[in-house]
Amino acid sequence: MSAVTGAVRPGTQRAGEGGFDVERVRKDFPILHREVHGKPLAYLDNAASSQKPQQVIDTISRFYSESNANIHRGVHELSQRATDLYEDARRKAAGLLNAAEDREIIFVRGTTEAINLVAFSYLKKHARPGDEVLISAMEHQSNIVPWQIACEVFGTRLRVAPVNDDGELILHEFEKLIGPRTKIVSVVHVSNSIGTVNPVREIVEVAHRKQVPVLIDGAQAVPHMPVDVRALGCDFYAFSGHKIFGPTGVGVLYGKAELLEDMPPYQGGGEMISVVTFQKTHYNVIPYKFEAGTPNIAGGVGLGAAIDYLNNLDRAAARRHEDDLLAYATEAVSRVPGVRIIGTAKEKASILSFTLEGVHPHDIGTILDRDGIAVRTGHHCTQPLMQRFGVPATARASFAFYNTREEVDRLVEGLRKTKEMMT
Ligand code: ALA
Repeated sequence: MSAVTGAVRPGTQRAGEGGFDVERVRKDFPILHREVHGKPLAYLDNAASSQKPQQVIDTISRFYSESNANIHRGVHELSQRATDLYEDARRKAAGLLNAAEDREIIFVRGTTEAINLVAFSYLKKHARPGDEVLISAMEHQSNIVPWQIACEVFGTRLRVAPVNDDGELILHEFEKLIGPRTKIVSVVHVSNSIGTVNPVREIVEVAHRKQVPVLIDGAQAVPHMPVDVRALGCDFYAFSGHKIFGPTGVGVLYGKAELLEDMPPYQGGGEMISVVTFQKTHYNVIPYKFEAGTPNIAGGVGLGAAIDYLNNLDRAAARRHEDDLLAYATEAVSRVPGVRIIGTAKEKASILSFTLEGVHPHDIGTILDRDGIAVRTGHHCTQPLMQRFGVPATARASFAFYNTREEVDRLVEGLRKTKEMMT
């Protein structure tokens, strides 16, 4: 993502500006055309969950109408068909991340489950009491708490690399914290609460120089930018379906095959076994070793449709459009008296967090909602980061490629109104 710098030409977003036809793209998302409290919806809460294009909705509906059955278990036509659709989705996910092999893609419930899987399985195999796990101060709690729980179980210690006043990781401090006892590094690619894009390639290089593997929480990166796990060199990468315009309840953990093969199962049940006796169980090959029980089949198939949607989008143009929205919104929101922007990193994705002097963020959210504008307010599951900035909560506008400058103008107008009403 580009730096947020300089003045932005005022005016409205025209269809086709920057090579991206936002009005055309908006037609793909039925929910964007509804009203909320009698006003047109301005959905600016995409970091929490994104909206779904019609083709994802239709794919899920068609799956249940035409192909539904359990997978990997039946010789009958529907089971075979459902299995093919699900495994096609795995192939698409591998393609999206440029994984070397489909078996490096494990379907999980979402990023949270992916991180829990690695925390428990990887540490069980590799950690000894006194070993360390390194994260950063800008992690979502789904990249803090699983490690804390695993640390209690395995006697390991959590270390935290600091961020600077702009909300950027302090790389040399991070590097200093990687020592002989560090067993794994787990960092976010894009901060969900303040939008910082971390230099993940450098992070991986630094960690690998010390033979430490790296997990990247990509929940907020995959919706905004192409991700190539082989170019990044990371060992694990996780993302959630619902943040990339797909369904809830499904996500992906990518892991290098040799690491996954070496790790013990995370959960027991059907599918993850090859032979079971009361004396001993032999586990299935990857990825199935990590996919106990009947998975979210329709969710996986729907995720495949979301990946198709992204692949058919001009992603470079979509990114330019999001960058434009972020720059435009940063400048316009900053001009509202009493606004403090939280998170001013040089590299940001289209996530804008702020406070408004004298107004609680929840009041901002409630007043904006009456005008049909959806933002998230609170600590955004990053309480330690909020503490770092000395605020209990922020209001956050997070933009997708289907948002417009007109929606930003409505946000700014709503903030001015909120300020007048509350102070
Ligand atoms: N992690 C999601 C968010 O940032 C829920 O809102």
